[in-house]
This record gives sequence, C-alpha cells and structure tokens, in this order.
Amino acid sequence: MPRFARRALLALAALSAPLAAGPAAAQQFPGRTITMIVPFAAGGPTDTVARLVAEAMGRELGQTVVVENAGGAGGTIGAQRVANARPDGYTLLLHHIGMATAPTLYRRLAYDPVNGFETVGLVTEVPMTLVARKDFPANTLQEAVAVIRREKDKLNYANAGIGAASHLCGLLLMKSVDTAMTTVPFRGTAPAMQELLSGRVDLLCDQTTNTTEQIKAGEVKVFTVTTPERLAALPDVPTSTEGGLPDFQVSVWHGLYAPKGTPAAVTQRLSQALQVALRDPRLVSRFAELGTTPVAQERATPEAHRQFWMADIAKWKPIIQAAGQYAD
Ligand code: MLT
Repeated sequence: MPRFARRALLALAALSAPLAAGPAAAQQFPGRTITMIVPFAAGGPTDTVARLVAEAMGRELGQTVVVENAGGAGGTIGAQRVANARPDGYTLLLHHIGMATAPTLYRRLAYDPVNGFETVGLVTEVPMTLVARKDFPANTLQEAVAVIRREKDKLNYANAGIGAASHLCGLLLMKSVDTAMTTVPFRGTAPAMQELLSGRVDLLCDQTTNTTEQIKAGEVKVFTVTTPERLAALPDVPTSTEGGLPDFQVSVWHGLYAPKGTPAAVTQRLSQALQVALRDPRLVSRFAELGTTPVAQERATPEAHRQFWMADIAKWKPIIQAAGQYAD
C-alpha cells in the first residue's frame, strides 16, 4: 500500500476513534461499579433516598451502585467532588433543592454550580416537618410560634449548613414568625436529629424521610407539615396553613446528576435506569412509608430535570438576595 494511502487510513482511523468510542462506550456502559455521591451525612433524608434509588438502579443496570457520603458546607463539598470527576457516567451526584440555591448563596465556589453538571433526571419531592425535642414547651404550631417569639435566640435551631433544605426551611420559618433563633449547623440532618433526640437542640425542620419514624415513635414533637394538604403517612399532623402560617410551605426536590461532558448516550442510559427504578415496587412502597412518592416518569429525563432546575434557581435567587444572607 502506497505510503500516502496508509497515512490517510491512519488519519481516518484516528479521527473516527473518539466517535466509535462514544457509542461503543455507551453500549458497554456500565462495565463496572458506579459511585453515587450523597453530599450529606449517612442516615439522613438525602442518603435514604439515594440508597433506595442506587439499589433499584443497580438491579436495572446489572451493576453495583455504591453510595458514598461526602458531607459539609450545605452539600457543596460533595457537589464539587462530582463536578471534578471524570465525565464517564461512573460518578453521579444525588442532591436536592440545594442545587438551586447554591448558585446564589455561594459566591466563591471552586466549581461551576450550574455548568459543572449534566442532568440525568428528577427523583422525588419530599415534604418537610417542623419537629422539636420531646419536652419542648408547646403542643401546637401556634404554641411553638409563641415560644419562638418569646425565647428568640435562646432557642437552638439545627440545620445541615447554609443551602441545606433544613436551612431554607428555617429561613422560611423565621421569616414567617419574624424572629431569629440561634442556628446550629451539622454535616447533615442525621446528626442534627441525634442532637434533637438528646435534647441538646430545640427545633429542626427536616424531610419526612428523616422524621416520620421518630414522629410515629413519639420520640420528637411535631407541629406541622409544610405541604398544602395533610400527608397520608402522617394524617394527624396539621398543615402549616391549618397552623396559621400559610407562607411556611416548602418541599425538597431531589435530582440525579453526572459531571459536565458525560456522553449523552450514557446519561440517557442512566435516565432509563432511573425511570425503571422509580417504578420498582420496593422503592415505591418504602417512599410511601416515608411520606413521599417518585416523580412522574416524564420528569425523570435529563431535559425535564434541567428545565425544572433552571426555573428553581431563578425562583430562589431574588428570595436569597432579599434576605441578604450568603454563605461566603
Ligand atoms: C440530609 O440529607 O442530611 C439533609 O438533606 C440535609 C438538609 O438538606 O437539610
């Protein structure tokens, strides 16, 4: 074969290699264990959702999906870990509403909180509950509001750091009652719940995935759910509107992400597996026990997730700017 022809063939092979690797890589994906990063401590509400999703996705993908906790700084430590990971589909992030607030709350992040990720799909929206230590001197939301207004910063309100759902819920609560309490940050609401159970903090606003069992066991006091309607899992708990705080409403959406640059064929494969996982009977029944439900299938796509995420960033930006409280 003449030398020029051989060089042309080699050049053509080099050009087509990346393209061939794309579909081929996607066809073989996943060829090994996938890591799902949870940016909060183990045992908390985000971790609970992630482990159920990881187990069901693993069954669908025929590969192990391991959950790894990387807590701190309201979830931005774990998010940064994934933004900097190889974009090959083997490192994912399961995170919540904090992905919509961090772009405004954190002004000097070492990663791009929006363009550092590909969306895979939405997972669930989890209601929140306002709970207190068992001997807190109130039994209704109205009585709790009176205690908060009287005791002010003598009360300790626990959260999982600036930008966490428990932080945002606390912001809404304190704005609704026009009173600031002392906030005590943890690496997640699992350790925060332990402090509440021990009586070392007074109040916590957390997702039903982390409070339902303690409420049913009578280990904490509950004043309200932050949803327009009462929850089937907690039928005796009044809504915030019933309790006189109609503006105190928030639900915590969760989504699945991959690093920017992950091949579209790989994120589509992951989204397909997520959609199957969200129909898994074991996941659906456990979600129901914990007061939540999977999102509809059409929301568990990369496109629907990105559209919802961008809209929520735009929603929270003016709220955060009006509060004037930033993380850095
Ligand atoms: C957690 O998983 O610990 C919580 O989602 C933290 C929070 O956002 O309040």
